Amino acid sequence: MTRYQQEQDRLNAVHYLHKMELGANHFTSLKCTDRSHMENVLDIGCGTGAWCLEMAAEHPDTNFVGVDLLPLYPTLVRPRNCRFLQADVLRGLPFADESFDFVHMRNFGVGVPAELWPTLLHELQRVIKPGGRVEICESDMVPRGTGPAGRLLAKWTHAALSTHGVDPTAVRGLPKLLQDVGFQEVRLHLRDLKDGAHGGEVGRASAEAQRDEYSALRPFVTRALCMDELAYDRAVIAYEREMETMRAHHHVFYVVARRPGRAM
Ligand SMILES: C[S@@+](CC[C@H](N)C(=O)[O-])C[C@H]1O[C@@H](n2cnc3c(N)ncnc32)[C@H](O)[C@@H]1O
Repeated sequence: MTRYQQEQDRLNAVHYLHKMELGANHFTSLKCTDRSHMENVLDIGCGTGAWCLEMAAEHPDTNFVGVDLLPLYPTLVRPRNCRFLQADVLRGLPFADESFDFVHMRNFGVGVPAELWPTLLHELQRVIKPGGRVEICESDMVPRGTGPAGRLLAKWTHAALSTHGVDPTAVRGLPKLLQDVGFQEVRLHLRDLKDGAHGGEVGRASAEAQRDEYSALRPFVTRALCMDELAYDRAVIAYEREMETMRAHHHVFYVVARRPGRAM
């Protein structure tokens, strides 16, 4: 299996973890928005496209667009109401003003340098129709309730990301940032996800996802910090054990907001 396929498998597993945890593909029911009909929906950093593909099947009268830097999504066969686009969204969203009724963005923050958050949120605001909504789902990448291995991995990861200007804890400030660029009805819903058997089926899946995420980050972190890969691997194994034996958990931030104006 190539690294690309491994990453696709990992992202699909995380997609189903979120779905299992929420019991749905999104926190805000599309029916709760003030639009009787969702014409166009955008997924930013869509990865394998699993979210768009499932949503397109659930909402056959809505058009879904997924955008990602890498073509991890299906390029040949896809539903009639779903398309994918390759683009670097940090250079601006390749869409006209007021194109979308709903924008979804999940686990994308790790690719956003802290200083670029306001620009990205301005872009979201620009492409959303008046009265349209955004839903952002992020983790601050802070393992909680674990031992030294969990803390060490978090410390290394945050240090490596900071070399690219990324601060995963910046997602805690999203409600304020959304308000600053003019969004209204901003709500933060903090979910505490258990990692390990103490969280039942979802907890076991979450622990696997945590382990796989740290494993996937290994080349990036060890290169950025010029550190020994073996030491990193040992920490991942120890963290896995901590999640089995301790009451490990982490926070997931769902932030929803509405662009001012009346839905047309
Ligand atoms: C952790 S994955 C999340 C995928 C998907 N949102 C999900 O929840 O399953 C982050 C995705 O963002 C994409 N990405 C990172 N930086 C990007 C950028 N500047 N422009 C577009 N996509 C980007 C990556 O290629 C990757 O597919």
